[in-house]
Amino acid sequence: MYSKEVIIELDKIDTILHWEVLSDIHIGNANFVESLFERRVKEIIDDPYRITSFGGDQLDLILPGDPRFKDEAVTKRTLGEQRQEFNDRCLELFKEHEYFIKNYGWEKIICSLWGNHEFKSRVVTENDEKVYWKKVPTGENTSTKIDFMGSKGFIRLDIRYKNKSRMKKTLFVNHGAGGGGTLKALENLTVNVEADVYQMGHLHDPMGIKRDTFYYNDKKKSWDTKEQLLINSGCFTTAIRNNVDQWMEQKGNKLMTSKPGTWTVSFDSYNDKVGQHG
Ligand SMILES: [Fe+2]
Repeated sequence: MYSKEVIIELDKIDTILHWEVLSDIHIGNANFVESLFERRVKEIIDDPYRITSFGGDQLDLILPGDPRFKDEAVTKRTLGEQRQEFNDRCLELFKEHEYFIKNYGWEKIICSLWGNHEFKSRVVTENDEKVYWKKVPTGENTSTKIDFMGSKGFIRLDIRYKNKSRMKKTLFVNHGAGGGGTLKALENLTVNVEADVYQMGHLHDPMGIKRDTFYYNDKKKSWDTKEQLLINSGCFTTAIRNNVDQWMEQKGNKLMTSKPGTWTVSFDSYNDKVGQHG
């Protein structure tokens, strides 16, 4: 498992920091929703205090030879072609990430995960991913680094103003695994793990809930409650297509949905509040 600290320096004491994960993009799949991806990337680039991370399944990687491969469901048929399309679509975002590191000393893209479409694909290893994320292209001969964190990891977010810490939160980032209900999957993330925000993708079901958890507050010398957020960060693909019989229809009796969209977590350190919305 991986972990890292992320320090963000605010420009004003009451600036709200937003975190919008780009998860389950599925480049190479014919159901990829290009317009939504372009919109979300543009909005992340346009807002300096909207940070992001990659949540896994960036590439579809169901390639010829895979029993799930379906020619009609795929637009790009090799790892190289899918990587190239991902690089092209993320070029401006990668440039912005590089600019932020050089000029502000913090990262626009706080981490990248891999998902089952990568780690079960048989065409990429963990080392391949590490090598890739160490040098994502920002131009013809330039590159930048994004921290690869496997399929699961801890991020300690430290939001500062004038180098003084204003809010610290633990984000438990996951690609996610298995099927079943989204809420149950999110609750499973909380087992054996202490965090403030539990995030996953995988189920292609953008949603979030806020709930209270009890703890002992040393300052008050009494029991107290604090909030936890459980987030499914969504996806950029639909599940089924008109007049094509695909993996989703063939694999089981229960028809699964896939709802394109993202979920955003907002850290209002000035008012000590963490919010969420779709
Ligand atoms: Fe996915």
